[in-house]
Amino acid sequence: MALWVIVPAAGVGARMGGHMPKQYLPLAGQTVLAQTLQRLAQLPGLGRIVVALHPEDPGWHAQPLPPQLPLSTCAGGRERSDSVLNALRSLQGLADEQDWVLVHDAVRPCVRLDDIARLLQAVEAHPCGGLLAVPVSSTLKRSDAAGDIVATLPRDHVWQASTPQAFRLGALRQALQAAVQAGVAITDEASAMELAGHAPRLVRGSADNIKITYPEDLVLAELILAAQQRESASAAG
Ligand code: C5P
Repeated sequence: MALWVIVPAAGVGARMGGHMPKQYLPLAGQTVLAQTLQRLAQLPGLGRIVVALHPEDPGWHAQPLPPQLPLSTCAGGRERSDSVLNALRSLQGLADEQDWVLVHDAVRPCVRLDDIARLLQAVEAHPCGGLLAVPVSSTLKRSDAAGDIVATLPRDHVWQASTPQAFRLGALRQALQAAVQAGVAITDEASAMELAGHAPRLVRGSADNIKITYPEDLVLAELILAAQQRESASAAG
């Protein structure tokens, strides 16, 4: 059974500002997206990585990627869920409905391969699938529009969802289609599965799997990648 990976990369990155979407900003000598893809390409059993791109994508062809990466692209959609649905449809005829699909944000270049391996191991016997996530450590506040505190929220059993998110291909497609048809705005695949009545498993991931959203995240990602490189160099002896 092959493992399929979907990388939604069709966002415009409005919160980052600037002229280029955040997946094409430079990071440690490459683009953010190229760093992410080269990491995912090392996954054992990988069938293919499908990258969803904006119809007016400004950067895909300009970034140097090793030609041997098992990649294809598809058109992204208006929402992230539309982009993921298009990528799932592009795998039809190639992948089996029961195959596992990993959906991973283009802008999480620091994901650890051993965390992905633990995720896949954890979901193997699970009825629906799961995702990497980190328990919330800070105190949570809800504010009004002016920014004054309205409430302090309990943080027991509260997690920050991240990616990859791992689901069976057929079930994920059905859940996303149902969510899109119902007009429900969803920001990750797990929410679509929840809407369909499933309870995905949260698998503790590393806190350094950051999502590049604001300019200062790029500085942090550069430091994380350098530290991870030192870690693997010292593990290799
Ligand atoms: O905007 P946000 O940071 O939540 O985007 C998460 C991921 O989804 C990014 O990799 C972005 O490129 C992707 N995305 C997409 N299609 C959209 C919106 C976002 O592929 N319509």
